[in-house]
Amino acid sequence: MEPMKSCFIAAQVVFLLATMPGIAESPALIPRPQKMEARDGFFALLPGTKITAGPGSRATAIFLARRLKTSTGYPLTVDGGASANAGILLTTNSADAALGAEGYTLAAATNLIVIRAPTQAGLFYGAQTLLQLLPPEIFSPSVVTNVDWNIPCVRIRDWPRFKWRGLMLDVSRHFFDKAEVEQILDEMALHKLNVFHWHLTDDQGWRIEIKKYPRLARISAWRASSAIQPPRESLKVAEALNAHPAWAAVASSKFNARKQYGGFYTPRDIREIVAYAAARHIAIVPEIEMPGHAVAALAAYPQFGCGKGKYTTNVRAGINGGVFDPGNPATFEFLDDVLSEVFRLFPGQYVHVGGDEVNAQVQAATWAKAPDCLALMRREGMTNVDQLQGWFTKRIAKFVRAHHKTLIGWTEIGRGGLPANAVIMDWKGGGLAAARAGHDVVMSPAAYCYLDHYQSTNHVMEPHAIGGYLPLKKVCQFDPIPARLEPEYQSHILGAQCNLWTEYVATLPHAEYMIWPRECALAEVTWSPENSRDWTNFSQRLRMDEQRLREMGVNYHR
Ligand code: ACM
Repeated sequence: MEPMKSCFIAAQVVFLLATMPGIAESPALIPRPQKMEARDGFFALLPGTKITAGPGSRATAIFLARRLKTSTGYPLTVDGGASANAGILLTTNSADAALGAEGYTLAAATNLIVIRAPTQAGLFYGAQTLLQLLPPEIFSPSVVTNVDWNIPCVRIRDWPRFKWRGLMLDVSRHFFDKAEVEQILDEMALHKLNVFHWHLTDDQGWRIEIKKYPRLARISAWRASSAIQPPRESLKVAEALNAHPAWAAVASSKFNARKQYGGFYTPRDIREIVAYAAARHIAIVPEIEMPGHAVAALAAYPQFGCGKGKYTTNVRAGINGGVFDPGNPATFEFLDDVLSEVFRLFPGQYVHVGGDEVNAQVQAATWAKAPDCLALMRREGMTNVDQLQGWFTKRIAKFVRAHHKTLIGWTEIGRGGLPANAVIMDWKGGGLAAARAGHDVVMSPAAYCYLDHYQSTNHVMEPHAIGGYLPLKKVCQFDPIPARLEPEYQSHILGAQCNLWTEYVATLPHAEYMIWPRECALAEVTWSPENSRDWTNFSQRLRMDEQRLREMGVNYHR
């Protein structure tokens, strides 16, 4: 058969498969686009394929060309220009503004692919879709031969349902180095995720070097060892299941010359990671925990703590008594100084200040016993320690606002009244009331979004975890809009994110095992239209996405 004819028949088959019930949707895109029409035929990517981009779109086009070149080995380059009649064109010209800040159209015909978007973020997402239209080997880190790099003809009009599509990584309980964080950012970009919430401080480790307080990097960043003692047997099984050589060991690079466990990011590391994320249209939201989960900071600077305890990073993860002392004005000098350095390193709008888990017991053992806190409460007419937490959060919010940033915090920042303009991250309630009161909300309820929970009920087959049960299907069933929230407040739900706490995670492959494919479901929940939810269809598309992850060397949960 001559090539054109066989192409045509192949395309017909693809189209039929795409429309037959019970057969995997093709192309298998995750997240599923808002609107997609499969057409006959395909575009063949060849060594001579031209990529064209206008001056403003050049960086996005080069990003795409590099990715394509890595696995195809083709010497693809980017030409300047606002139009083309063959090859791949990325352009903002005549883009439909109604697509919004992240939307795009992609029209693939047999000789020309046009990605058009009003913004570079939109073009970038169009480019990610283009990559997913190719065979999964396109994600290989080295050249693959014997693959026909064909892109099915298709017309896509796409935009995200939510503007916050996130992932939180706890780098306090386990330190992930710069290359590891960048690997996770790549995995996020593939799924059009756009917020990386970086949990930089907690009781077990402080991970951001602050020039004015050098003891944070020298003392707070280290502990004697990781708390995890994963049962060998379950690790062996999981290792066999996942066939990943890097699985079992605690990464030796996480120990310093004094055999302490931990690490920290220098300002230079952070600038590089921020730039790496920005090139993938991912905003980084740094989290500096306060007033609780402050043991690591207080191990270096106990004068800003409340209570007589000696602080050490060698504490088990949980709710610890290390809280900052709001009755001491020097505490706020310290926190303002830290945040000032954070503001300089992170250009994004949002700064996360934690706020969680200063529970009644901790309050009673610390603030309620401290003379300076009691004096502050008397002065300000406060009658309980929840009000003191509210006062603390409002004091920090004022500083954040003065620097033209937006404060975000966990559910508990609502204690004692939410500060004006504060955004709440709902992990245990509070989102509904906050949205009704006109605050923006990011949904991250523990029942649907906690990646530290088990993925099956057979714990022998999984590495040791904190507990809980969050199967993939449950993430797929999650709707970020709280069921009882009236339509007029729904625009306050910015989106959602999953969180990976790492007390029981000690390597990047283990983190990947916890993140993927559950985070694929979160990507779909936050991007795709609610009425396109379909577990069977998602599971079928996921098979292709798993091949992409495999090509990228990601140790996803099978
Ligand atoms: C949290 O899980 N403590 C936010």
